[in-house]
Amino acid sequence: MTLRTPRLALQATAFALMAGTAFAAGLPLGITEVDNAGLPDVGEEWLTENPYRDGGAEVWTRAIEVGESAFTQNCARCHGLGAISGGLAPDLRMLEASDYDDEWFTERFINGATQDGITKMPAFGDVLSQKTAWAIRTYIETRPDDKAVTAESHALKELRDELTQWSKGEGTPDEAVMKAKLDEIAARIPTLSGAPIADSVAFHAAEQLNGTPESYASAAETLTVGLSVHE
Ligand code: HEC
Repeated sequence: MTLRTPRLALQATAFALMAGTAFAAGLPLGITEVDNAGLPDVGEEWLTENPYRDGGAEVWTRAIEVGESAFTQNCARCHGLGAISGGLAPDLRMLEASDYDDEWFTERFINGATQDGITKMPAFGDVLSQKTAWAIRTYIETRPDDKAVTAESHALKELRDELTQWSKGEGTPDEAVMKAKLDEIAARIPTLSGAPIADSVAFHAAEQLNGTPESYASAAETLTVGLSVHE
């Protein structure tokens, strides 16, 4: 009896774990659906154009957030972190942000790619939702040109150091000037897709400023993390 009890407890734990991962277990190996709450529904039929591209700032921001998570979990191992291809698979940042390339995107997303009976890319159409597909599309098309970010990294580090000082109560915060400088740099960082706004670290940091020392700290953190991949 003394031996049985822990064993039963173990079995119960294993069962609870299995029940909790039943959804994940139903997906083919390596494919992960993400929490896409907060994105507008898109219905059953596949759309031919990204509905989140011009869906308003809130939808756009949420789509990038969901898209980043879904892309990192399902696509990055072949298409590269941040969609910067290492050469294994096409560089998706080059797809044009237009309905023409949206159709090509959904074609590949739904069906994957095979050559001579070999799967080069798995099909995602039955395992990830259409909402998640368009979130990934939005994330991809708003990636900044990494070379342009590298070119601005010196200027961005100076602003980061200033923000760090402000967050500690040092220096004389002038948020309007800081925001203008970040916006100016953000405007010099394009997408490769032709989408008008690149979700660069400069853009992101400028959006975070709200007059509080906490926002100076988080904007500085955004710049530090974002620039660490460009060193
Ligand atoms: C196992 C590796 C692998 C994974 C994982 C993968 N892909 Fe691919 N993908 C490829 C390869 C290889 C190609 C090129 C296929 C061809 O045309 O020969 C490709 C092509 C594409 C294309 C067409 C690009 C072009 O320029 O023609 C799109 C769009 C695409 N993938 C999107 C995705 C998305 C979105 C995900 C994640 C949900 C993903 N892929 C996951 C390997 C992968």
